Order: sequence, then structure tokens, then C-alpha cells
Amino acid sequence: MTDTKKVKMVNIALPKGRLGDKVYDMFEKAGFECPSIKEKNRKLVFENPDAGVRYFWVKPSDVAIYVERGAADIGVVGKDILMEARSNVYELLDLNVGKCRMAVAGPEGFRYDRDNELRVATKFVNVAREFYAASGTDIDIIHLNGSIELAPILGLSDVIVDLVETGTTLRENHLEVVEEIAKISARLIANKSSFKFKTKQIETITQKLEEIIE
Ligand code: PRP
Repeated sequence: MTDTKKVKMVNIALPKGRLGDKVYDMFEKAGFECPSIKEKNRKLVFENPDAGVRYFWVKPSDVAIYVERGAADIGVVGKDILMEARSNVYELLDLNVGKCRMAVAGPEGFRYDRDNELRVATKFVNVAREFYAASGTDIDIIHLNGSIELAPILGLSDVIVDLVETGTTLRENHLEVVEEIAKISARLIANKSSFKFKTKQIETITQKLEEIIE
């Protein structure tokens, strides 16, 4: 490998898991294959100098941190995580996968009584705060890390702000969407200074991915 090639390698943070596998397949289809990534092992870094790419498997919620701080030049992350973290990165492309909705949900037939503070359980504290601030609604945020749907069932909260994909979790727990906040999907993001120094490589990857988006 020449030094020039080393310098021009694009470091890509992929979200570990089902979405990441799907996203890697898109990169492969776009011409940035890295066969070693498909080997069954616990390695986290894979590179193909000929294609000019180095992939890292990163916890999905950490992708934006790697990219924002320049440990990765580009990465793929859910819009939900970007909205919550307000990451200082460029959002280059909507990959049209990992699609779901960010929504307020509550018990079936729930009606909000404006006289009382609304208790909102969520992983997405910033998104929820911003959403309710826009309508001047007083809320009490309960920050949970998972199984958010449990909160209204047990009376811990009135509503939740969470992701809804198929709607099964809500249905099976007698909850329903009260209001949609945003449509979510996976986004290609870039570190701002990497974009300046590796413009051509990053733009090529973006264009090739754009061509194969369904
Ligand atoms: C997510 C989300 C909902 C569920 C929505 O949870 O927080 O609970 O998926 O999917 P559905 O509409 O298809 O049922 P996840 O499985 O990531 O686990 P968590 O409860 O730990 O957040």
C-alpha cells in the first residue's frame, strides 16, 4: 500500500447489528466492498485499501460521536440519534433504510388534561423537550433507557416519546400513537473537516450510494 493510498482511505463507522449489515450491503453494492467484514469473528476494523475504505463496527448510538470527533470520516446513523444528540456533522444522504417514526404514544383513548403537567417517559429527552416546548406544554421528563412502553402501563408516565416501527409493541401493550414527531431513517453523515480534506472520496461514495438507493 502506498502512503498516498493510506492517507486517502475513508474511515467509515457502521452501526453494529441488523441495520449495519443492511447498510454494509449497500456500500458493497455501490462498489466499496470489503470481503473480510463477512468473516465470522469479533474483529471491529476491516479494510480494503484497493477500494479506499476502512470500516468500523460501532454501537449505533455512538456512530455520531466517532464521526463528530473525526475518529471516522463518515458513518451511518439513525435520524433519531442525530436529533437527540444534535451532532455537529454534515448530513449527506437519506439512505431510505431503517425507516420508522418518532412519536408520542399513550394508553388507548388517552386525552391530555392541560391543567396537569404531562409526564413523558423517553430515551429521547432533548427531542421530547423541544417538541413540547414548541406548543408551550409543561412536561415532567422521565429518562428511561429501554422498554419505554412499560412506563404508562405502570402509571410511571402519562405518555411516551419513542420509536414506532411496525406498531406491534404499542398494540400488544394497549397503547397507541397520539402524535407523530418525525419520520426516521438511516442517514449518511460526515465529519466536517474530513469533508474538506477528503471531499472527492466522500462525494464519490455519496454519489455511488445515491445511485443504488431504493
Ligand atoms: C424499539 C422501540 C420500540 C420498538 C418499536 O425498541 O423503542 O419499543 O422498538 O418497534 P415496533 O413498532 O416494531 O414494535 P427496541 O426493540 O430497540 O428496544 P428498547 O425497548 O430497549 O428500546
